[in-house]
Formats: sequence, structure tokens, C-alpha cells
Amino acid sequence: MIHCEGLVKIFKTDDLEVVALQGLNLTVEEGELMAIIGNSGSGKSTLLNTLGGLDRPSAGQVKVGPWDLLKISEEELVQYKRETVGFIWQNNARNLLPYLTALENVEMPMMLSGKVDRDYAKQLLEWVGLKERMLNKLHQLSGGEQQRVAIAISLSNRPKLLLADEPTGSVDTATSDLIMGIFRTLNRELGVTIVIVTHDMTLASKVDRVVAIRDGLTSTEFIKRNPNIGLDGGDAELPSAKGLSGVHEAYVVVDRVGRLQVPKEYLTAIGIKDKATMEFDGERIIISSPKLLGGNDK
Ligand SMILES: Nc1ncnc2c1ncn2[C@@H]1O[C@H](COP(=O)(O)OP(=O)(O)O)[C@@H](O)[C@H]1O
Ligand SMILES: [Mg+2]
Repeated sequence: MIHCEGLVKIFKTDDLEVVALQGLNLTVEEGELMAIIGNSGSGKSTLLNTLGGLDRPSAGQVKVGPWDLLKISEEELVQYKRETVGFIWQNNARNLLPYLTALENVEMPMMLSGKVDRDYAKQLLEWVGLKERMLNKLHQLSGGEQQRVAIAISLSNRPKLLLADEPTGSVDTATSDLIMGIFRTLNRELGVTIVIVTHDMTLASKVDRVVAIRDGLTSTEFIKRNPNIGLDGGDAELPSAKGLSGVHEAYVVVDRVGRLQVPKEYLTAIGIKDKATMEFDGERIIISSPKLLGGNDK
């Protein structure tokens, strides 16, 4: 269902580049119910937004079903978002219409795509445990109930993939358990692939598979690239900041036009400010400070 290879996402603001995903690999089979866990800032939302077609990837491969999200056109992206993926956020207020009933809310996206299936809308509301409340207006429902309506809405156009970003982030434990149970039911009944992003480790036991993400990499890749760093260190510090001696393997992302970001500590350590010398010996690329090599680059 999902295949990411070397997925890179760089956010550019005026004078800053943030590499949110640093060459991430991830494969998710059709019909899986899985979770992605990681600390705040580790790139979870970026990954989900990229998979959901809300953010464009910067480089690498990202395929969802038959779609290649790196090459997809704007028109296809609209279709992709409408037909292939469903999205659930922590706070879904923006998707819900308070003056309509729960049922009308679920039927709304169906109406927009031209085929209202009332029986299916009712079935979805039953699966999320709102059979008795489907004729209530949204504002008459509790926060947890509204979140369940949002889950039903996300499935109204029968997506193949359901992406949930911290879906239990703002509800109590009981509601959280209920929502996880609903995901399991939907996964079983519809065969929909579900990817849940969370920083809550306790949810991990409630899905079939968990992938940890740290600094924009899944943890196996993180360990592979940073063998000297334990995963239980907790902090999301760049490995390059942890002493330079002996550490030659840091992650460097090369974007589509060939630019790479070298950790600042490395540059400072050998005194590179704004210019560097680059040598290619057929196997390695060596970046050095111009003055060390005679400075004819000045
Ligand atoms: N739109 C954006 N512009 C610039 N930086 C961003 C943007 N979105 C996310 N980031 C940065 O990317 C990194 C990963 O963020 P995010 O994916 O939201 O992490 P998580 O969801 O795991 O908390 C963070 O350093 C964050 O500041
Ligand atoms: Mg997030």
C-alpha cells in the first residue's frame, strides 16, 4: 500500500532549511493496522501529510497504491486526496459542520463526489458506535463522539488508506481505548489500511505493528547510520553534536538538485564558513576548508 524509499522533506523558510524527513524508508502492506511512534518534532506529521498528499515530498520515492506522489500532477492529487486517502487529525473541528446531524456530516463528502450512499453512512456510524446518535446535531455531541463522527467521515468515500495524526491526543484514556477499538473494527470490516501516528507508547500494544521514527528516520535506519548512539538516549540531538572524534558517519541528505546539508558542528570544527573545497577521488567526496588545501579557491 505504501512504499517510501529515501524519502526527504525539506521545509524552506526565508533563511532556514529544516530537514524534517532525512531519507526515510517505510513499507506498509495492504490491510495493515500499524502505528508510527516518535517524540514531538521527529517528523511524524510531515510523513503523514506527505502520504496524505497535503505536503509535497522534496526527494526520494513515495508511492501509495498506484500513485507516485513525487510525480503526481495537481489534478491527480485532488483525485488522490478524494478517493484514495482518508485523514483524521487530533482536532477535527475544521471538517465538521455543527448545524448538521452526524448522518448529514458523513453524507456531505459523498454529496461532493456525487454519490450519496445513506446505508453505508449509517453503517459507518454504527461501526463507530453512534447508531443511536446519528440524527443528533453535531453540537449536541461530546468531543469524543465528534471525533468518532470524524472517523466515519474520513471513510465516507471508501478510501483504501486511512491516516490518523494523533487521533487520541485530546481525549481521555477510556475514549482513546474506544477509538483504538474502532480502528480495529474498521480495519477488519473494510480491510482499509490504517496508519496511526502517536507519541503515546501505550497505543503500540493495540496495533499489529509499530515503527519508531526519530529525527526523520525510522529507528532501524537511525541505528544503522548512527551505530554509536543508543536509541534509548531519549533526546533528539543530532549525532554530530556528540563529539566529533571517530564519528564519521552522520546522515547527510542530498536533495534533488544535489545540495547537501553538512552538520554545523563539522563545519565549525574544520573552520568552514561560507566556502569549502571539494575533491572527488573516484570513491569519496572530500569536503575541506579551503585554507587547508592551499586556499586557491579564495
Ligand atoms: N511547515 C513547516 N515549516 C517549517 N518547518 C516545519 C514545518 N512543518 C514541520 N516543520 C519542522 O519539521 C520537523 C518535524 O515536524 P513534525 O513532522 O511536525 O513532527 P512531529 O509530528 O513528529 O511532532 C520539526 O523540526 C518541525 O519544526
Ligand atoms: Mg505532529
